[in-house]
Parts: sequence; structure tokens; C-alpha cells
Amino acid sequence: MKSITKSFAGVTVLDNIQFDLMEGEVHALMGENGAGKSTLMKILTGVYTKDSGIVEKLDQGGNMVQMEHITPKEAQEKGISIVFQEFNLLNNMSIAENVFIGREPKTKAGTMDWKKLYADTRDILKRVKVDKEPRVLVSELSVAEKQLVEIAKCLSYQADIIVLDEPTSSLTDREVDILFDLITELKSKGTSIIYISHRMEEIFKITDRITVFRDGKFVDTFKTADTTNEELVQCMIGRKLNLEKNTQAKDYKDKDVALEVKNVNVNVTLKSKPFDFRLHKGEILGFFGLVGAGRTEMARIIFGIDKADKAEVYKNGRKIILKSPIDAINNGIALIPEDRKELGLVLSLSVQNNLVLSCLKNLSPIRARKAEEKEIALKYIKDLSVALSSEEQAVEELSGGNQQKVVLGKWLAMKPDILIMDEPTRGIDVGAKAEIYSIMRQLAENGTSILMISSEMPEILHISDRVIVLYEGQKTLDAPVTGLNQEKLMHAAIGGI
Ligand SMILES: Nc1ncnc2c1ncn2[C@@H]1O[C@H](COP(=O)(O)OP(=O)(O)OP(=O)(O)O)[C@@H](O)[C@H]1O
Ligand SMILES: [Mg+2]
Repeated sequence: MKSITKSFAGVTVLDNIQFDLMEGEVHALMGENGAGKSTLMKILTGVYTKDSGIVEKLDQGGNMVQMEHITPKEAQEKGISIVFQEFNLLNNMSIAENVFIGREPKTKAGTMDWKKLYADTRDILKRVKVDKEPRVLVSELSVAEKQLVEIAKCLSYQADIIVLDEPTSSLTDREVDILFDLITELKSKGTSIIYISHRMEEIFKITDRITVFRDGKFVDTFKTADTTNEELVQCMIGRKLNLEKNTQAKDYKDKDVALEVKNVNVNVTLKSKPFDFRLHKGEILGFFGLVGAGRTEMARIIFGIDKADKAEVYKNGRKIILKSPIDAINNGIALIPEDRKELGLVLSLSVQNNLVLSCLKNLSPIRARKAEEKEIALKYIKDLSVALSSEEQAVEELSGGNQQKVVLGKWLAMKPDILIMDEPTRGIDVGAKAEIYSIMRQLAENGTSILMISSEMPEILHISDRVIVLYEGQKTLDAPVTGLNQEKLMHAAIGGI
């Protein structure tokens, strides 16, 4: 791809971009939220048309041929396949219908060949180790399973170029391993892969080269083996960024207890015993654990989504009854969920309308509140540096990471006393991560108590005052961050006490 330029409504989002991909290579695209990664990929796959520039691809005969204004279908026929950042499956159709949509196998009589459809789908599901029947509705799949089905569908086109746009943001470690095995297998067959992710570990593990964009411009291409984490970060955000351990951590032991949770049993295994914990006013409490340790389940109980028979929740010393999220919200508790892609936003509404959703009841009657809404929207757009052209823009036009920032903003606007954040920086670029941490600090200083669930140890150590580690639904550690390090966290996360 040479000198690619693209603008939306007069705003240039890709400015003279270059990118090349070799046979059998895994090439990462990196850059902050809104840098233009997904847009470039949509041009490659015919979803958007470029304003100018050249796209060339090797054809079957070994010649480079120009691809001028192709449609998504033509891109597919030319051997380019993509897993989009956003979900694209149709919830009320079966897995098999989704995988073969538009290319369903037909019988001699011209009707749908259900037998072949199901058999072929079964083979495809096996490749990604999803143990579901082809006729199961997509709506019945978990977020991770949906993502694996998308990947399986993409692979089934037998493409020679595969684009994976943040394929792992909703996968757990086990599923990431399945994906990486598949990538290795594809590579060995000469398939080329473009891999977009904000997770450094993955980038270093699976890619051969890395190209960095900043603000719609090409910055550099590196050989993965010749670069470092620091160099990439600096390249992406134009400055250094260190995630140091929290040196300002305070001990809240003698401070007011904002939230006390007793007897919570997350039932991860039969063995798991109920546990108690306290969150103090203005404290940031980190919840660490491996995937499946029960952290999300615990959050769902405190937010009134799931019932826990014996769990008791006290706020400011007073017992509260949580039958539904409404009860939690009325008690000043907010939860920023893990699967923001599905649960967080009304995509067709404007950024402003989404941002004010959780605080509507605090605003003036409908006629008088336009200005208030705008003020709130502008505040959070600024605080979170959401990249957009105007607060009136529909959320669906924002880049993936910027959509996530809107979800965060929506809950911050509610000004909760207790804020539960489940993997708050997933899918968010390094620069914006730092902004989110400073917002968390600020909130805590103003008296908000924060419970943050995270699977990233550096993040836990950087932001928490105190850390609780869960292992199979049991508390294996509860200590101020001051005496902790990565080894101690890991030790507790695998069950050591
Ligand atoms: N359909 C559209 N209409 C208007 N603006 C758009 C549209 N699609 C993308 N943009 C804008 O183009 C810019 C680049 O977006 P893009 O989705 O390519 O970013 P990205 O690098 O993939 O970011 P992320 O890491 O958040 O996924 C953003 O500012 C976005 O708002
Ligand atoms: Mg993107």
C-alpha cells in the first residue's frame, strides 16, 4: 500500500500511509486509538474507498496487480480475508448460517445442502476448538466463542492475506493460545497475516515486523527482534511512558469503610469458600487473579446482576439490598463491564447522548438540559482525550478504543461513590491508559472508592493502594501494594498463600 490517503467529512485520517506485507509474514500494526489502523484495513478489504494511493497485491501468477476500488466481495475473491474489530455475526442465525453466509453449499436441485453445511461447519469449529453444534444460534455463544467463530469463518475463505483486527481483546489466555497455534500453522503455509493489537506481549510473541502509525501518519517499520517495548511506546505516543509501582500508596486501614462485602462465594469450584473484604473511602483496591478466578463474578454480585445466596453488602456501614443493577446505581455503585463491545453503548446515538445516559435523572427536565448535556459531554471528551470530530458524531464512527473511552466516560459522568472497573484499559492504547490512571487517582482523591479488576500485573501494582488476589474463588492475598511485587502476585494467583 503506497501513499494512501483518506478523509472523512474533511478530516484526514490517513495521510500518505505506506505499508508492505511479505509472504508468510506476521506484520503488526500499532498506534494509539484513532491512529488509523482499522481504516487502512477497511481500505485494503474494500469496505472503504481510498481518496488516493496505490494498493498492489501478488496474484496467482506471481505478478503484482493493482487493486482499484474493489468491493469487499472482490477482496475476498482476491484472497484477502478479515476479522473486524467489531462483531459481525448475526445473533439470531445459527453458527453454520453465519460462517457460510452468501456461499451456502447447494444440492444438485439447487436447494440448501444442510448436511454439507453442518459437516463443513463442524470441521471449521474443530479448528478453533469450539465445542458447539453448528445449528446453535450465535446469540447463545459467549463473547469469546463468538470471536473464535469469526476467526474460524475468516480462515475458511482460504485467503493468502488475513487481517486480524484486535482478535484477542475478548479472549482468555487459553483461547489466545489456540489462535497463536493457528497463526503459526498458517504462516508455515505461506499465508501472510496483518495483526492489530495493543497488547505488547502478543506483538513480541507472534509478529515478525511492526509498523507504527501516529495520527494517521506512517512513523516507522521495525523488525520485531530488533526493537523494544520502550522504543515502540515512544514511537506510538511521541514520549516515554513508565509504568512504575505506586509510590504514593496510602494505608487506608483506619479510614472510613465505604463498602464491605461479606460471605461472597463466587462458586468457581466446589472447593471455593466464601470470603469477605473491605473497600475504604478514597481507596483504589486492585483485584488480581488469573482468568476464571472469580473476579468478574464477584463484581456482578456487587452490582446486583447475579444473586449470591449468602453474600451481604454494606455501604457506609448500612446493609444494602441489591436485587438488580438499578438498586446498585441508586446506591451510588457503578460497574464498567468487561465486554464493553456488547454491553456498553448505543452505537447509533451520538457521543454526547451516550455520555449522559447514566446521569439523565440528575439533569434538568428535557427542554432545559441541552446545555448541561453538552457541558458533561465536552468534559469527558476532554478528560479522556476521545478522538472525534464533534460530540454530535455517532459513536459507531469512532475507532474501537475511542468507543471504549466513551463507555468509561458514561459511568464517570454518573459520579458514583463506588466505581467497579473490570479490565478498564483493555483495547486502550498506552497513552490513553496513562490518562485513565490519572483520572482514577483524581477520583479517589475526591473520595470515590475504586475497585479495579485487572489481569495485568504492572497495572495492578501501578494504580492500587491495596491488592486482593483471588484463586479459584478464594482470597489468597489481601495486602497493601507497598510490600508487593509481580512474583508475590503470581504466587498468590496460582494458589500459594
Ligand atoms: N466512518 C467514519 N466516519 C467518520 N470518521 C471515521 C469513520 N471511520 C473512522 N473514522 C475516524 O478515523 C480515525 C481513525 O480510526 P480507526 O478506526 O482507523 O483507528 P484505529 O487506529 O483502528 O484505533 P483503535 O485502536 O481505537 O481501534 C478516527 O478518528 C475515527 O473517528
Ligand atoms: Mg481499530
